[in-house]
Amino acid sequence: MQAWVVRGDGEPAAVLAREAVAEPDPDRLAGLKLDLAGWVTDPALLGNDDPEEAALFATRTAAVAARPPYEDWVLLRVDVAALALPDVTMARGTYPVRVARPYITGQEAVGEVIDAPPAKAHLVGRRVVAVTMQPWGSLAPVCVGVGPVFEVPDGMTAADAAGLVIPAHTGYHAAVRRGGVAAGERVVVLGAAGGLGSAMVQIAAARGAEVIAVVGDDAKAAHVTALGARHAVVHGGGDVAAAVRAQLGVAPVDVVLDPVQGDMGPSARWLLAPDGRWVVCGHAGGLRPIDPHFYMQNHTIVGATLGGYTRDVMRAMEHEAQDTVVAWWREGRFRPVTTEVVSFDAVPEACTAIAERRTRGRVVVEVTPGAAGQA
Ligand SMILES: NC(=O)c1ccc[n+]([C@@H]2O[C@H](COP(=O)([O-])OP(=O)(O)OC[C@H]3O[C@@H](n4cnc5c(N)ncnc54)[C@H](OP(=O)(O)O)[C@@H]3O)[C@@H](O)[C@H]2O)c1
Repeated sequence: MQAWVVRGDGEPAAVLAREAVAEPDPDRLAGLKLDLAGWVTDPALLGNDDPEEAALFATRTAAVAARPPYEDWVLLRVDVAALALPDVTMARGTYPVRVARPYITGQEAVGEVIDAPPAKAHLVGRRVVAVTMQPWGSLAPVCVGVGPVFEVPDGMTAADAAGLVIPAHTGYHAAVRRGGVAAGERVVVLGAAGGLGSAMVQIAAARGAEVIAVVGDDAKAAHVTALGARHAVVHGGGDVAAAVRAQLGVAPVDVVLDPVQGDMGPSARWLLAPDGRWVVCGHAGGLRPIDPHFYMQNHTIVGATLGGYTRDVMRAMEHEAQDTVVAWWREGRFRPVTTEVVSFDAVPEACTAIAERRTRGRVVVEVTPGAAGQA
């Protein structure tokens, strides 16, 4: 099959190559384990005999030794796949965990289940949305879905469903479960027009919070206002706290939802009231050490990532997020964050647009021509 493969480190346009690769093989998946960087696979079996990759494999193998093999996978014939900032940061080598080379890029897909282990056999022949992990990412005709795997909600297009799960589930985890956003609270969302940010704006608003969305330009301000943000603040590339105060005054906020970090996250923390929560759920602006004096302000720093829990806990969390967000979607209180559909050929340019902050919400890729509009 032809897939978008990364072998080196660099900007997506330089390192993404459309290559003929073998389809993922269900026999190869038996007994394999997952960590936050994907399937723990021997790089030699993927044709990479670099000693650094072998050392990475040994480290990862030791770290997952106590875990059971991952048995919640499905093999998918891909209709539509989503792109996101991790497609850029994994390629650059700046993702928080090192992703073994070579790998197929892409973290989310909609498609038909063509094979599954017994626990998921009831899904064979069904159209599902699934998360995908490297090396068998979603930018390929066939990929491996891992939890969450859900049937596409009735009436939702494949293009919308392909951009649903990661933003909505991560947003729910960050804002609701970890951040505890409650009705009446004032909540700042950084990177608010991005994929994850667009979901968090809506989730915080659905919880009854007053949302202050921080974005880079006026078009993104219009985007977040349409999603339910009470206020949109254009940061102008400078001090986020100063930009918010200049527009809205000095009243403190209860929560900062932060998928950006870099200079923005630490700046936005100064907007928090005592007992305020800084929920760190991404690193679009880069990872930074955290000021050890943070305790002097009685702030809580909260980490939020979808991973690291046992499979049973993850399953329960996945169902809670999916049921809640799909119910909000049916009530018109949440809309999927897909804004653009591009062709399979356009993957490198689309990744460059994400890297250059020119996109809003999610960009999805029609892997099977004509599939994006199917509901
Ligand atoms: N914790 C988890 O489980 C989880 C799950 C999904 C994603 N994430 C992480 O969340 C972050 C956002 O992902 P995403 O897919 O939503 O990204 P995205 O769609 O590209 O949005 C990121 C937003 O961050 C802002 N930003 C500020 N500084 C930036 C910089 N230096 N480079 C790029 N963007 C910058 C941009 O907004 P302006 O241009 O408007 O400032 C952009 O709209 C990533 O770090 C991703 O890895 C984490």
